[in-house]
Amino acid sequence: MLKIGVLASGRGSNFQAIIDEIERGKLNAKIEILIVDNPSAYAIQRAKNHGIPYLYINPKDFPTKEAFYEKIRDELLSRGVELVVLAGFMRIVKKPLLDAFPNRIMNIHPALLPSFPGLHGQKQAVDHGVKISGCTVHFVDEGVDTGPIIIQAAVPVYPDDTEETLSERILKLEHKIYPEAIRLFAEGRLVVEGRKVKILNYKPLNAWFTNPEVRE
Ligand code: GAR
Repeated sequence: MLKIGVLASGRGSNFQAIIDEIERGKLNAKIEILIVDNPSAYAIQRAKNHGIPYLYINPKDFPTKEAFYEKIRDELLSRGVELVVLAGFMRIVKKPLLDAFPNRIMNIHPALLPSFPGLHGQKQAVDHGVKISGCTVHFVDEGVDTGPIIIQAAVPVYPDDTEETLSERILKLEHKIYPEAIRLFAEGRLVVEGRKVKILNYKPLNAWFTNPEVRE
């Protein structure tokens, strides 16, 4: 069973989607720990609701960002975590954590990368006037939302969309593709080759799941 560590900063709806998939028996994984950098993150309540251990680590308690990530790394390693899942964790991951988990840290971003990285991906999409946006699960590297892409899902952007309405539409798909990406990892089906991720024997869940290796 894959041992997961989740890092979150806020609401934690993606964290919840992963919990639900595990509890439904659809994802063979165990969440060993939730780590938050914000003591009022609602994700903490979700961890309590499901008996998942959690830890608040205050970045201000550390002299450098590196020291903060060394602490996170040590907490994850001491629990035997094999995959780190960023679920609305609003920080750039630094070297101590990256080096300990090469191609073993995943993030979800609310845009079709490499478009609209960084904060407010949905607002960036609305402001730019794109007609299609979506979400991306990728492995984390030292850049901002630049790592190898695992899966993406697309949604239409309507002329009267606001940041809020587009975010809501994208979020529904986030909750599907994040557990799906973790399942592919758990099944040993993700092969990273340079900046590309090859998915072995992949059958997309529905038409919005894009993987050019699969032709209908
Ligand atoms: C999600 O939309 C996620 O894609 C986004 O934050 C939200 C967290 O929601 N992440 C980023 O923008 C990372 N750059 P959640 O706490 O309810 O999962």
